[in-house]
Amino acid sequence: MMTPIGVFDSGYGGLTILQQLRHRLPTRDFIYLGDNARAPYGSRSFDVVYEFTREAVMKLFSMGCRLVILGCNTASAKALRTIQQNDLTQPCSNILAHDSEGVDAGQDKAESLEKQGYRVLGVIRPTVEVVGSLTKTRHVGIVATEGTIRSRSYSLEISKLNPDIKVTGQACPLWAAIVEAGEAESEGADYFVSKRIHQLLSKDPQIDTIILGCTHYPLLMNALRKAVPPGIHIVPQGEYVAAALEDYLNRHADMARACSEGGTVTYYTTESPGRFKECAAMFLNEDIEVTKIKL
Ligand code: DGL
Repeated sequence: MMTPIGVFDSGYGGLTILQQLRHRLPTRDFIYLGDNARAPYGSRSFDVVYEFTREAVMKLFSMGCRLVILGCNTASAKALRTIQQNDLTQPCSNILAHDSEGVDAGQDKAESLEKQGYRVLGVIRPTVEVVGSLTKTRHVGIVATEGTIRSRSYSLEISKLNPDIKVTGQACPLWAAIVEAGEAESEGADYFVSKRIHQLLSKDPQIDTIILGCTHYPLLMNALRKAVPPGIHIVPQGEYVAAALEDYLNRHADMARACSEGGTVTYYTTESPGRFKECAAMFLNEDIEVTKIKL
């Protein structure tokens, strides 16, 4: 049976994570799900981001995934903990009530999903773990969605591991929407990227490392390179998330065995497959098949 690793994002951003996962784990099967119909998530409330993310995770479980990576910082900041602590630990029948396709219908429904071996991981922790080795000045900037910045997830997590690092956050409303609109290489993108980078650096001119705390942002790399002064590192997180997943599979032999190895990737979107294909082609160098699904 195919048990791909699920990768979820509000839209196209998680593709930047998927690329790195495939690079690092080329034999694994993956399912990518972009909730493009409801993207961006960045300025949505905690409750809404949690609800949308939970629906996507349950859909991916019902499609055969045992392990789902939230390839989205906003979802990782606002929904991961509740999903891990509540949804995965409740008796499965409660969760199945929301999903007519069900999760592994043959299994004992009284058992929690966690006991049945289902897991969800996020992108913030793996990124935070490397921050200490990237900065020399110990002044780090985080650019992310309003939701991620407001959650303070990055500053809280970084201060636990590296209390000496000063973290300055900058919310970047519109950046994800610019990517979703296919306008990453435009004057508009240059304008909004430079505006927010300028705001960030005026808050703390000693920043030497800027973490892209939104998976959409690597798609704005050209605009970022123009806006960020030389000598400041721009750090996308995909590579670190991929290394953390590889390490996780090395440490969890049951999960490593459960995730199938056919080297396939299947793409799903909640919006138009034609549009997904077109936009995804801008950064994936391959022709892909995309299927529309409802959450
Ligand atoms: N790519 C997402 C993130 O990492 C979400 C962007 C959005 O939907 O606003 O935060």
